[in-house]
Amino acid sequence: MRNRASAFTRPVGGCPGGAREPLRVQGPLPVSVDRRLRPRRAEALICGARLARRVLYGVARPILFRVDPERAHEFAARRLEGLARSPRALKAVAALYRFEDPRLESQVWGLRFPNPVGLAAGFDKDARMAAAFPSLGFGFLEVGTVTSVAQPGNPKPRLFRLPEDRALLNRLGFNNAGADAAAQRLARAGRLPIPVGVNIGKAKVVPNEEAVKDYVTTLEKVFPHADFVVVNVSSPNTPGLRALQDRGPLLALLTALKARARDLASAARRQPPPILVKIAPDLEPEALADALDVARAADVSGLVATNTTLSREGLARAIEGPGGVSGAPLRERATAFVREAWRATGGAIPIVGVGGVFTARDAYEKIRAGASLVELYTGFIYGGPATAKRVNKGLADLLARDGFASVAEAVGADHA
Ligand SMILES: Cc1cc2nc3c(=O)[nH]c(=O)nc-3n(C[C@H](O)[C@H](O)[C@H](O)COP(=O)(O)O)c2cc1C
Repeated sequence: MRNRASAFTRPVGGCPGGAREPLRVQGPLPVSVDRRLRPRRAEALICGARLARRVLYGVARPILFRVDPERAHEFAARRLEGLARSPRALKAVAALYRFEDPRLESQVWGLRFPNPVGLAAGFDKDARMAAAFPSLGFGFLEVGTVTSVAQPGNPKPRLFRLPEDRALLNRLGFNNAGADAAAQRLARAGRLPIPVGVNIGKAKVVPNEEAVKDYVTTLEKVFPHADFVVVNVSSPNTPGLRALQDRGPLLALLTALKARARDLASAARRQPPPILVKIAPDLEPEALADALDVARAADVSGLVATNTTLSREGLARAIEGPGGVSGAPLRERATAFVREAWRATGGAIPIVGVGGVFTARDAYEKIRAGASLVELYTGFIYGGPATAKRVNKGLADLLARDGFASVAEAVGADHA
């Protein structure tokens, strides 16, 4: 059927005032635009929204950045929760922020990723707003960290902006509503058009000796809703957690989780979800080699490199107190970990590169170093809702410039 929307599935010119991209809306127009408006008016609306997209975060950011970071996060989370509940709004937002290019698509672990730019763990700890992220242009997301039981996290204040360094410092400590709540929310959200990973951690009240049982309990709760599972043993904000990266405990943990995932999958007559392990950027070379060895021995499906760093090296201003630094100061170190993980595993285990990705160049650097997928958190805080689209567009250009037909072709290209 030809309807008015079809007029918008082709380029229909530019916005007055010099927006460079042609107006191109994939699929029918958002219902709210489509139903009541003539094409010209709809065009104007999209131009306006595009202008708003450019200007708005430029205006909103300084205001948001004046508010306490955790309150600003909660404010944004509420807006995204609202967005996630409204199919109309999701469609309108997707028209502005989604970017599709066949070069960006890939298959990893048998899952289809429409693009390689994901949202890192920690932003949507409780899976409250998962449905919003496909419309914001992300190719996948990790919810969590979730723990077996709800826990409040560390005392506030515990999240800080370091704008001179384009960084954040956090010592949140796995504040979350627990695995049952996350599972319920994911069930309610239903199948999303992008892969959803669930990042699992150890509850603070559980001693390390009982960690395996605790992680297994969490896995059991989230299993039906996870396209992949990330085992977080690298947060700096849960006392003793990083000791689980040591050879013995890590092997015991990963082996148990893999076995349990296999049993659950066989009972549910499905494939077991890929199990990934997330590592810290502060591992000494020997400890990193050990962790990579164990990952191979336990036959994990992937590595997430890296979590936040304890290092304060290169920061413009000295900061007091514990916590992990994310963002620009972490970029090189995280990329070096991706590079080393790729080298040590011969590229046999897919790597998710995370740490300091703000631009397409940052993402491309990680892909060429060996990352099949990338994630960002801090870049989203500083860059706003257009971040994933901007990174994806630039990435498609970089791949084309270097003659790669797909992301997969560029993965590990630096090692050639
Ligand atoms: C406020 C905040 C909370 C985070 N919470 C988690 C978490 O719960 N689990 C986790 O595995 N990583 C968490 N991270 C780490 C990120 O997932 C990511 O590994 C790290 O921030 C580096 O990426 P970035 O430089 O793009 O932020 C958190 C990061 C920030 C900034």
